[in-house]
Amino acid sequence: MNDSSNNVTTRREFLKNTSRLAAVTSVAGATIAVEAGREALGAEKGLPNVHPGHSDTVQVVLIGCGGRGTGAAENALQTPGPMKLVAMVDVFEDKLNRSYDSLQEHHADKMDVPQERRFIGFDGYKKAMDFLKPGDIAIFTTPLAFRWVHFTYAIEKKLNVFMEKPLISDGPSARRMLKLAEESVAKNLKVGVGLMSRHSRHMQALHERIQNGEIGDLILLRGYRMHGPAASAFSTKWPGSPGELLWQIRRFHSFLWASGGCYSDFYIHHIDHLCWMKNALPVTAQALGGRHQKQTPDGTPYVDQNFDTYSVEYTFDDGTKMIMDGRCVDGCTPIYKSFAHGTKGMAIVANTNDCDPPSRTFKGQKAQKANMIWESKAPPGEANPYQNEWNDLMDAIRNDKPYNEAKRGVEISTVTSLGRMAAHTGQEMSYDEMLNCPHEMAPGVDKFTMDSPPPVKANAEGKYPVPMPGVVKDREYPA
Ligand SMILES: NC(=O)c1ccc[n+]([C@@H]2O[C@H](COP(=O)([O-])OP(=O)(O)OC[C@H]3O[C@@H](n4cnc5c(N)ncnc54)[C@H](O)[C@@H]3O)[C@@H](O)[C@H]2O)c1
Repeated sequence: MNDSSNNVTTRREFLKNTSRLAAVTSVAGATIAVEAGREALGAEKGLPNVHPGHSDTVQVVLIGCGGRGTGAAENALQTPGPMKLVAMVDVFEDKLNRSYDSLQEHHADKMDVPQERRFIGFDGYKKAMDFLKPGDIAIFTTPLAFRWVHFTYAIEKKLNVFMEKPLISDGPSARRMLKLAEESVAKNLKVGVGLMSRHSRHMQALHERIQNGEIGDLILLRGYRMHGPAASAFSTKWPGSPGELLWQIRRFHSFLWASGGCYSDFYIHHIDHLCWMKNALPVTAQALGGRHQKQTPDGTPYVDQNFDTYSVEYTFDDGTKMIMDGRCVDGCTPIYKSFAHGTKGMAIVANTNDCDPPSRTFKGQKAQKANMIWESKAPPGEANPYQNEWNDLMDAIRNDKPYNEAKRGVEISTVTSLGRMAAHTGQEMSYDEMLNCPHEMAPGVDKFTMDSPPPVKANAEGKYPVPMPGVVKDREYPA
């Protein structure tokens, strides 16, 4: 893949660059940099060969072949430059086959995944990554519980990574992932995290305008994702097959250990881009939430761990508030938008959905056409933030630019967990308390086998433990 003369040049250039390298800012930019000085990088003896040139074929493996994994692999294969998908991994054969068929149908020329490199099982990630060379790419699109396990191995193998949000659900995983993020920077690995708002050209333009003072100093941020029950967040009783662990994985939005629940999985995008607009992370949160309609229309009880309503008030160090409202209840007003308010005006950040355009700025606090200052437009060919995030990652990989979104991804995932835990416990909490919370939701996740017991067990009625605000305060659900 990399001829040795290329490596020497890249390495020399790289060493020269590191002396002025203040890698990535935590929340400010589309590309994260983490302070990665000579010393940190020198700690790794001999820099890894992680910089494929423009004409080198980059090999990719997909770990977690569901909806997003298939989409991420497709985005990868559509980046400029030669790419090959060479292995696929899942714990369900039907999921892997469906993903394989779809990718094969649309990208046959970039697929090289013979039967012997389609791995089923919890240990498949190792077999797939073992096939790669340093500088190739591993995609992690399983539920979040497995992120730190897969990331640990990728760093060991000196692989570049794209991993989906959220990255953690609990404090122990957050602390572990922050350490891994540092290691990945020290090894000069390029890491993309699926917080695609940061790669929306609309939001990048809005961010710049807000930094330039177009709407004054930010004093309030608001995100709303309110619709009916969605994805696998609402589950009726385990039907007895597949095994309970595999069933929980299949319905991962229902279980806090697997996904952080609907709060983390659904609301992280608004939390992410609103923190980005503010260039800061909130320091505390207090929150409300409840389980109002936890049954199907025919009266069958839902047994999952989610509230169906959340309202979280975050506070930044300067007193600015950020509200995140989430609701999964049919028949209520649907709102799926985000806003930023400043001392001189306001902005629509996400016009619909997680980060859909156009973004707009207005004089004053009313989003009325007569007050509109600006409306975003994306440059031709850059309208899709999912494709942009891959084009940006590959540009960094092929041109050896600093690019590591892991730390920011963990921080935003921790902010998201903070709001969820504040709602679930009914306690005002700080970011530091969330980060240092000792409750680990899926201990031993690195040793799971198909027959392992699930991290949460149902009671005699088939119901899983649910949050009890004001009663259970030091963890999110009773042990
Ligand atoms: N950025 C976005 O807009 C966006 C959109 C959708 C999903 N996502 C994220 O992507 C991830 C996956 O979501 P999805 O909707 O594709 O879910 P999914 O259930 O469709 O896909 C997940 C796949 O991972 C497999 N899997 C689970 N554990 C595994 C393991 N240990 N090893 C190998 N395979 C395993 C599952 O069987 C499944 O096929 C989640 O973290 C989700 O939050 C992000």
